[in-house]
Amino acid sequence: MARLDVTEMFHGISFPGHLHTQDSLKYAVSFPFLDTDILIASYPKSGTTWTQEVVTLIRTRGNPGLSQTVENWKRAPWLEHYYSSALLEALPTTARVITTHLPHHLLGPALQHSKTKVIYVSRNPKDVVVSFYHFHKMANFLPEPDSFSEFLDQFLEETVSFGSWFDHIKGWTGQINSNLLHVTYEEMSLDLHGTIKKISLFLQCPLVEDEVNNCVQHCSFSSMKENKMINYTLVPQEIMDHSKGSFMRKGKVGDWKNMFTEEDGRKFETVFTSKMMENCTLEFVWE
Ligand code: A3P
Repeated sequence: MARLDVTEMFHGISFPGHLHTQDSLKYAVSFPFLDTDILIASYPKSGTTWTQEVVTLIRTRGNPGLSQTVENWKRAPWLEHYYSSALLEALPTTARVITTHLPHHLLGPALQHSKTKVIYVSRNPKDVVVSFYHFHKMANFLPEPDSFSEFLDQFLEETVSFGSWFDHIKGWTGQINSNLLHVTYEEMSLDLHGTIKKISLFLQCPLVEDEVNNCVQHCSFSSMKENKMINYTLVPQEIMDHSKGSFMRKGKVGDWKNMFTEEDGRKFETVFTSKMMENCTLEFVWE
């Protein structure tokens, strides 16, 4: 097992050494994707786990059996984690759901020769940074953060683990490709039913109304918070300390308002405007 207290630098990005090794990262960037694979790509705290649940439930046509008996990291393994090659190789090659936090500039080359269906999930960056800050407090494989304001500085300076949010979102959403679907955390919050239908059509797995309703029920925040296979309470306390916070924390759009000071807001706007606006047509929902 990799160690808790180290970071693994790869192409200038720091990854938690507890989950990543040079070999696992190299394995990921040269992964032989298949046309039948489904890849969920995201920057951390953007709705990855939620999307894993949505995809699992779509594929079981709303039946919660799989999502209630198999941990999410086994049914939709992270490509770049050190233990994943064995898990991936054990999955039937016609039905693999794979997850990644890698930016497009690292993973794009491996994807370009396949018709892998990619679902990129994004979230407004103010809620991402707040969720990420709280996650750093409970995940012992991430550096203990000081104040929120200092963590925000690191996020804006692009020095946090997993690298730059700006590069991540621009890299993935800049791809014009019929095999890539961009969904947002906010659209799932606003219209989970509609988003599930949209994803199911993209995956060529259309569902009838009852099946969509079952998916909605089982991937609601309250259901997922109770589901041990997805709420990370099965992870040992020395790795994720649930006495310091929950993985399934609040599940809200606009929680940043409870954390950002006026000064944080000003700092954020200045950097966001300078880094995002050029050639960027994305619109974010902030509340
Ligand atoms: P908060 O910390 O804001 O509550 P990821 O899976 O990418 O790490 O993202 C985790 C975030 O998604 C957490 O946000 C978590 O609560 C939220 N989340 C997970 N499942 C959700 C659901 N069904 N509904 C709303 N939010 C959900």
